[in-house]
Amino acid sequence: MKKEIQNHLDSIKKFNSDKVDKLDDFKIKYLGRKGIVNDLFSKFKEVPDTQKKEVGLKINELKDLVQNKYDDLLNKIGSNQDNLSSEDISKPGFPIKSGSLHPITIIKNKVIDIFSQVGFDLSDGPEIEDDWHNFTALNLPKDHPARDMQDTFFIQTNPDILLRTHTSSVQVRYMENNSPPINIISPGRVYRNEAISARSHCLFHQVEGIVVDENISFADLKQMVLYFTKAMFGKSKLRFRPSFFPFTEPSAEVDIYWGLESESDYRLTKGTGWLEIMGCGMVDPKVLENCNIDPEKYSGYAFGLGIERIAMLIYEIPDIRLFFENDIRFLEQFKS
Ligand code: PHE
Repeated sequence: MKKEIQNHLDSIKKFNSDKVDKLDDFKIKYLGRKGIVNDLFSKFKEVPDTQKKEVGLKINELKDLVQNKYDDLLNKIGSNQDNLSSEDISKPGFPIKSGSLHPITIIKNKVIDIFSQVGFDLSDGPEIEDDWHNFTALNLPKDHPARDMQDTFFIQTNPDILLRTHTSSVQVRYMENNSPPINIISPGRVYRNEAISARSHCLFHQVEGIVVDENISFADLKQMVLYFTKAMFGKSKLRFRPSFFPFTEPSAEVDIYWGLESESDYRLTKGTGWLEIMGCGMVDPKVLENCNIDPEKYSGYAFGLGIERIAMLIYEIPDIRLFFENDIRFLEQFKS
């Protein structure tokens, strides 16, 4: 038996192949269920006790040698999957699921595209803000009742630090560091301490924009809003409703005429056909002053819209929570 094992060892050492099929055959011949190694082990009981140890070691050596030889040769062939399998390589491969952009990203990109096309630059800022940039500079001094419009997450140990409630804070930062003409949009995440429901969430996304230059008027604002609603929704019937924001004067909320063509239009617009899509107004001179811009010389307009709201309208999504659950069955529907 020792001789037999030695012969095997010799031929294993000599074995060579660069074909995966041949390698597999080689391995099966020795290590397969009915292979040589098992056969040797089954004959092991006939080995005299005095030789058992030596023969046992030899069989194990043989086993290891086959495995090492197999691994080495396979490595040489490379890790190419096609080579690894001796199966029919013309078979179709396993499908790989491709991902998709999140609907919020899709809509955000679209809004950015629309405004970029008419010359707006992008501006970014921190989500953890200070009181000045989120409130005070925007004409919302401490204890101003209008602060209640935006339920705020404050940092407990330092009430001067908070999670930004709108990206207007980015506009303040930008105005502090740049002089007119200013033409920016600031997309980003914002936070409000609201109960989560189908209509509201404590984290959502905004795109706010600001234009500051000489002789900017409400007419410019209206024109820009019209351009946006046409590009985004294909709709141009608008309504500017007087509203209040501390940082704009006058302020307005914009409704678009959505129409009443289907049952869902009725539900969406509560039977009126109109839908509110954004807030806007002329930048309050006090805000310009706070950002070291001369309100005698410059004027500006600003607007802000919620991405979730627009995505819900465009995709007819009834519940804002769906955006945050990351359910693959939901996300898969936005493959382009
Ligand atoms: N900052 C406002 C909000 O978050 C939106 C807004 C921006 C309104 C600019 C007017 C002008 O609700």
